[in-house]
Amino acid sequence: MNADLAKRVETSDEWITVRTGIRERRIADDTTTTSDLCLGACVGALEMADVEPRDIEMLIVATVTPDYPLPSTACAVQEKLELPNAVAYDIVAACTGFIAGLTLARGQVEAGLIDRALVVGGEKLSSIVNWDDRSTCVLFGDAAGAAVVQAADDGYGVKSSVLKSNGQLRELLWIPAGGTVNPVDKNFPFDGSDKIVMAGSEVFKVAVREMCNASLEAIERAGLEPADIDLVVPHQANIRIIEALTKRLGIEREKVFVNIEKYGNTSAASVPVALDEANRSGMIKPGDNVLMVAFGGGLVWGATVVSW
Ligand code: ACO
Repeated sequence: MNADLAKRVETSDEWITVRTGIRERRIADDTTTTSDLCLGACVGALEMADVEPRDIEMLIVATVTPDYPLPSTACAVQEKLELPNAVAYDIVAACTGFIAGLTLARGQVEAGLIDRALVVGGEKLSSIVNWDDRSTCVLFGDAAGAAVVQAADDGYGVKSSVLKSNGQLRELLWIPAGGTVNPVDKNFPFDGSDKIVMAGSEVFKVAVREMCNASLEAIERAGLEPADIDLVVPHQANIRIIEALTKRLGIEREKVFVNIEKYGNTSAASVPVALDEANRSGMIKPGDNVLMVAFGGGLVWGATVVSW
């Protein structure tokens, strides 16, 4: 709850709610790993798709909070889920991770290289949050969401995918220490630079502009107009970003799925968790055009249109 954070840093429920739309976030306990979170999401996705683990040929885990630097979290999930026929690997595209994974899997299936992939966005962001930094600690939460990707009937499925990045802006949202540039060794000063550091308002402006551009490009590549979009499932980073984006796109509020108040920003998990909740709540009907759009550290952003 926001009130719990107000006991730790100088903030308030009102500031967090008004500036971000976030009221609660889920924090995993010390013993729960990113692969554990991913496992739960993958089991749910396999069940919903009625697919057996042996039928998965590729497992992509999108995360910025891996279990270990090496090997990939995907290999841990593969072992826990018992996927005998899959190649498993991670991708790092921050909050755009799920859309990037979906795009990779789509390409593999469309090229006929595999029949079925499992794409999961999973994050234990609580492990990389600086709990003394009020400008970031109020924003993030832990979660995972997954989808089975396989060929769809004619006219359905992924219609378009757009992915972009701008590495020149990578220091707007980063973890300065812990890699090869600034290793965390015995001389490391514990000054918070091994945790998320973000220039929030700069990221905000680029996010609105580029999520809008990517959305328009994805809609156009799908042969559609913004008015043809039945539901937008945006990355849940900030309600004000979502509102500014959909206003620019000219898409009504009723066509936008928002659950940020419950989870905060869960990075790569945000879009698949939102998609699952929208689907389970009956908001998506067969044939609907669903726009997913995300933006995050890198900076990396992307959008995809799916005919449901
Ligand atoms: N409580 C109270 N005051 C705060 C808090 C807080 N939790 N955090 C910051 N403030 C203060 C600041 O210190 C500042 O005070 P000052 O004016 O005295 O200097 C004031 O509030 C305004 O700060 P801003 O940073 O300008 O606030 P803004 O309205 O931009 O909101 C926020 C900050 C919520 C971070 C917003 O900029 C944002 O959402 N940015 C984009 C985040 C995002 O999309 N990230 C990408 C995905 S994340 C990923 O990839 C892992």
